[in-house]
Order: sequence, then C-alpha cells, then structure tokens
Amino acid sequence: MKLKVFRTRLFEEITVVFAVLLVGCGLANVSDAAVQEGSAVNRMIIHTDKGKEKINKNIYGHFSEHLGRCIYEGFWVGEDSSIPNTRGIRNDVVEALRKLNIPVLRWPGGCFADEYHWREGIGPRDQRPKMLNTHWGMVTETNAFGTHEFLDLCEQLGCEAYIAGNVGSGTVEEMQDWVEYMTFDGDSEMANIRRKNGRDKPWRVKYFGVGNENWGCGGNMTAESYAELYNRFQTYVRSYSGNQIVKVACGPGSANYPWITVVMERCHRNMGAISLHHYVRGTGNWVRKSSATKFDEAEWFALMKNTLTIYPLLKKNIEIMDRFDRRGRIALFVDEWGTWWDAEPGTNPGFLYQQNTIRDAVSAGIFLNSFNEHCHRVKMANIAQTVNVLQAMILTKGEKMILTPTYHVFEMYKVHHDATLLPVELHCNDYQFGNDKIPALNVSASKDNSGRIHISLCNLDPSNAAEVRCALEGAEPKGMFGRVLTAEDITAHNTFENPQVVKPATFSDFELEGNIFTTTLPAKSVVVLAIE
Ligand code: AHR
Repeated sequence: MKLKVFRTRLFEEITVVFAVLLVGCGLANVSDAAVQEGSAVNRMIIHTDKGKEKINKNIYGHFSEHLGRCIYEGFWVGEDSSIPNTRGIRNDVVEALRKLNIPVLRWPGGCFADEYHWREGIGPRDQRPKMLNTHWGMVTETNAFGTHEFLDLCEQLGCEAYIAGNVGSGTVEEMQDWVEYMTFDGDSEMANIRRKNGRDKPWRVKYFGVGNENWGCGGNMTAESYAELYNRFQTYVRSYSGNQIVKVACGPGSANYPWITVVMERCHRNMGAISLHHYVRGTGNWVRKSSATKFDEAEWFALMKNTLTIYPLLKKNIEIMDRFDRRGRIALFVDEWGTWWDAEPGTNPGFLYQQNTIRDAVSAGIFLNSFNEHCHRVKMANIAQTVNVLQAMILTKGEKMILTPTYHVFEMYKVHHDATLLPVELHCNDYQFGNDKIPALNVSASKDNSGRIHISLCNLDPSNAAEVRCALEGAEPKGMFGRVLTAEDITAHNTFENPQVVKPATFSDFELEGNIFTTTLPAKSVVVLAIE
C-alpha cells in the first residue's frame, strides 16, 4: 500500500471527466489519462461532503417465519435441550446475530402470519393447542414458540420487534387484543393475562404489519378489498403506554404497481410504512427454480442481472408513493427479499432449506447497496430468512452451526448502519456474457459519526478483476484499510464439514495518493473499504 496525502493533478482531471460524463457525453470522447491507459479502468467520484440522508440501520433487518427449521431448531431448541440455550433459545445463534448488530426481526410470517392465532401461542407450553402449518410442509406446529418467546428472543438479540398480524383469517378483535396484550401497561383484561403468563411490564413493539402478501397467501384479495380491510383493521392497532407503533400496510410483490397505487391512494393517511417483497433467482421459474450450489456461468449471470432489477423496482414504487405522499412521510419496508433456489436435495421441499454461495453474497451486496441508495424512502429491509430458510445467515444441524457467505456480507456492511449516505458517481465497464451485458460493478458509500468513510463495492464479473480509480471529493484522507469476501469457485460455500471456505479476509490491494485511490477488486467479490 502506498500512502501519500496531497491533491494530485489526476484528481482535477477525473473531476473534469466526470463533469463531462454527467452531461451525457460518451466515454469515447473523454481525454482522461486514466481512460487512455486502457478501458479496463473503472472510475468513481465520491462526494464525501455532500451526504444528506441517513441510512437507517433497519435496512440490515431480518425475517423469521414458522417455516421449516427457522424457528424450531434454528432459534428454538427448548429449555431441556443439550444445545446451550437461554430459556429455550440457542445461545450460538443469538451470539452470531448480535455480532451483526441485528437491528430488527420480523415474525411470525410470511404466509404463516395470516393463519396464526396468537392466543394459541401463550400460556403453559404443554397446554398450547397444536395447529397444522398448511403453507409449509403440512407439519404440526406445537406453538411452543409464541409471543413471549419471540419477544424474549428480541430482547436477547437487542433488536426491535416487527410483528405481522393476521388479516387473512383473523379478526379485528384478535389483532386489537394482541397489540394490547403485548404493549399495554395499565389494568386491562389483556394486560392482566400477560402478567399471569409471567410478564409484568409490557414489551416495546415498534412495528406492526397489518397482513402479509394479502394479494396471495394472505387471502387472495384484490387491492381494493385489502385497502378497505386495512383501513378497518389498522384503526384498532393502538399505541399504548408510550409504545409508538408504526403500522405497515401490505404492499406489492415485485412489480405489482396497480396494487401499490390502490393501497397508497386509499390508505396513505393511515400508515407509517408500506411493504415490498422481492425474491430473485437464476434462469428458472417459480416451479423449477435451480440449484443453489450446482450452476454454471449462465446461472451466475442470470442472478446478477435479476438482482439489479431491484433498482428500477425501488424507483418505480417510490415514484408511486411520491404521488400520494409528497412529503415522504411514509417509509418503504422491503420486508422480504433474497434469493430463492430449489430446496437442498433430500430435504422437505416445503421447508425451503437452501445452501448459500459466494453468488448469494454478491447478490446480497447489490441489494444492500440499492437500499442504501434509496434510503430517503427505504427505512427497513428484512432478508428472508435468518436461519435455515432461503437466503439464511446461519445454517444449523443439531448442535452445529455455520455462517453463510451472506452472513459475512451483513457483518462487513454493518459499518453503514445509521451512517450518512454519500453520493457516488460510478462509471464502470460491463460484464458481458454471451450477447448480454450488465454493469460489472455496484457501489454504495457512507460516512459514519466519527467521519470515517465506508465504500461497499461488488464485482459482479466472476472471471475478471476490476481496477477502479476513485476521487474522494471533499476529503483529506489519512489512511485506508479494507476487507474482502471472495472465493476460488463461483459455487463456493460453507458446509458443516468445511465451514470456513468463504469468509472475509483483510484487503490491501489499493494505493492512496492525496484524495485519490486506486484499487483492484477481485473477480466475484464484495469489498468494503474504510477511509479515515
Ligand atoms: O419467505 C417465504 C415466503 O415468501 C413468505 O412466507 C411469503 O410472504 C413469501 O411469499
């Protein structure tokens, strides 16, 4: 690493070049020295003194559903388990998630939310009725993990609780009672039942979803009928005893613009946030997706390309929100997102248990960069799902636990929590595959409270490293360090036998001169740079 602190002429040149590019000129006309060296150099300007919006740490939130082995085995092993636990909740999983500074956890679904009746999950565990989990493998749900256990989990994790209520098969009264049960401090029937069940003080429940995917598994409703129900149900979702609840309306799945238009138009006065779900995959379809670990470059490319759809998707949904909420009061919560592959061979297909490779990690890096980029509206996002389901952070097998490549991206990106988003101009080469191409690089930058700048970069190209030259406009950097997540093979992943195949390493392939640095990002990598 070379470290010199002075302004170079190159910086001025880069600034000029970008000024030209910003007004729409093509790369071919640019006389920048860097470009003349060869088109392999990608260029960036980061406006380190122009940040305005805060990146809400809840963008790094999580989601866990009564689905497969997420709750049972993933979080909950029961007090009598030989697996070390605190009041039935696995210590290793809590410890790993605390290292991510997990800010918020959504529960109990997903599709499960709209068939969940919370009263069945309180009181002595041996007396709780059993139910059938019709969405996820038709297995028996014991209700051993209910409201008390979930809110205990949130307290152990030190995170906010986000509860999804039942509109599809529940009643207004049931929803009203649940909120009162959890959050009312005074003398009422619900608060007193809570006390009888062992919890004197109310919990803090900051976020409450009024239904989930009500256009599908949550009741197959039209936007109009949901909007009417939303307005009615939310009336009774009260803020008790100083617990200011944020009510979340059910928004669209991916590009369902008519849905968000109707719900925004009819309900905007009554919501604090609206949700968006977006799952991505490779070349497959919803019936036959494809393998999480056995794939070629065509599948890699397809996932990268599909992941980038998050950008226009956010833009369009936000444009619609802007029409009904000009002042930007209502937040967009991307409360389910991630990759969705075929279930691991030999596992119950209804349990959605999938492995997680460096490909998932790069996809997660892009998603998180996109949420940062839209943080004026995107105030929360919850990857699906925390343990043992879909794009999980953690996989468990009996007493064993492994961290996935996606976990490491969340750990590396935690430097963005509550930092100020910095505007970035990126001019990069394409990653070409066959006749198709996408931008090879993806980036986001922020400045934290101490003034440290962090840049998260993804190189989507699985074969070619990318040289990047970056001007840190408005900064006088004193030093720089970095971390990288990459792997030899596109299918690299961690297993219970080999849990450290994909893990972050120190990264020092950069040179800083004045306020310009150059760096070379390895192929298929996620790099986070810190500049002081
Ligand atoms: O995360 C799995 C499922 O995906 C959720 O239950 C549902 O909301 C979505 O369709």
